[in-house]
Amino acid sequence: MTQNIQTLKSELASMIEAANDLDSLEQARINALGKKGRITDLMKTLGGMSPEERKTTGQALNDLKDEIAALIRTQEDALKKQAMDQRLATETLDITLSPRPERKGHIHPISQTMEELVTIFADMGFTVAEGPDIEDDWHNFTALNFPPGHPAREMQDTFFLPEDPDEQELYAKKLLRTHTSSVQIRHMKENKPPIRIIVMGRTYRSDYDMTHTPMFHQIEGLVIDEHIHMGHLKGCLRDFCEAYFEVDDLPMQFRPSFFPFTEPSAEVDIGCSRKDGGLTIGAGEDWLEILGCGMVHPNVLKNCGIDPEKYQGFAFGMGIERIAMLKYGIPDLRTFFESDTRWLDHYGFAPQSRPNRALKD
Ligand code: DAH
Repeated sequence: MTQNIQTLKSELASMIEAANDLDSLEQARINALGKKGRITDLMKTLGGMSPEERKTTGQALNDLKDEIAALIRTQEDALKKQAMDQRLATETLDITLSPRPERKGHIHPISQTMEELVTIFADMGFTVAEGPDIEDDWHNFTALNFPPGHPAREMQDTFFLPEDPDEQELYAKKLLRTHTSSVQIRHMKENKPPIRIIVMGRTYRSDYDMTHTPMFHQIEGLVIDEHIHMGHLKGCLRDFCEAYFEVDDLPMQFRPSFFPFTEPSAEVDIGCSRKDGGLTIGAGEDWLEILGCGMVHPNVLKNCGIDPEKYQGFAFGMGIERIAMLKYGIPDLRTFFESDTRWLDHYGFAPQSRPNRALKD
């Protein structure tokens, strides 16, 4: 019997060792320890043995059972480890892959244009000032010399907001600023001349068509100092236009106009040609209006506590979308705000691209 057990043991052990996957290992287990397995069969023979023999054989069979079970566990661990190693080697997950097909980001033409504007005006010694989008009637109109009830207030289709009962009366009537000129007032009240600032930001008017959207962007310029005159205004705007549109000797005309906050006031046109549906800036016989400007009205200076006998200044304002459309040939203003990535792929800019050249010395 002992001999039998030894032979069975080495037989089963080599079957277990030979099992090269979990399925064949399970077969080996059933073959040895299952209900009809070889060891179980031998166990069944114990009943017919003498008590003495049963004791030794029973003990030997139990030992065999334990040893075989241990061998199976060891082999099972080895096979599982092998399977895991194999999965690790073959199943790779590249965490550097983006979850969607790769898209290139682009700088929106508004952001690009604003950067160009800052670059050009910073070169001329301007700093950037800011003010709130939610304004009050006093900063947006009254202080800018729009008298109450004056028809010029209706020139701009204002979005009015509910009055603010917590605000002092002068500032209670809230609105979305219709132009960045309100920041002129805020800046002059807080700062003493000399002043040389640009302001860029969102402005709001109730209007919607190919060249108007309810929200758009403006840039405002303000220079206040002693002895400032219209020549400074013209020189500054000429240098700006030539740098921005990248055209030397750009034809420009200053046309008399009206704004309540400037006297005299002008609108500036640049020369262009419109042929075959195309627009070329700097050539041809047509004119294109691009901005409003003028000498700051003495009443505006007074409203901000600046003595108009001592200080004068000029101001200008223009639509950022408008000059972006002209420079980059974008035909419809509304497309700026549709968030169509195909539009951005076409009109957007690569990061760090710098299309405008430096100012002339
Ligand atoms: N605020 C004017 C507008 O929105 C633009 C403007 C014109 C601004 C003349 C100025 C200026 O500073 O001097 O239509």
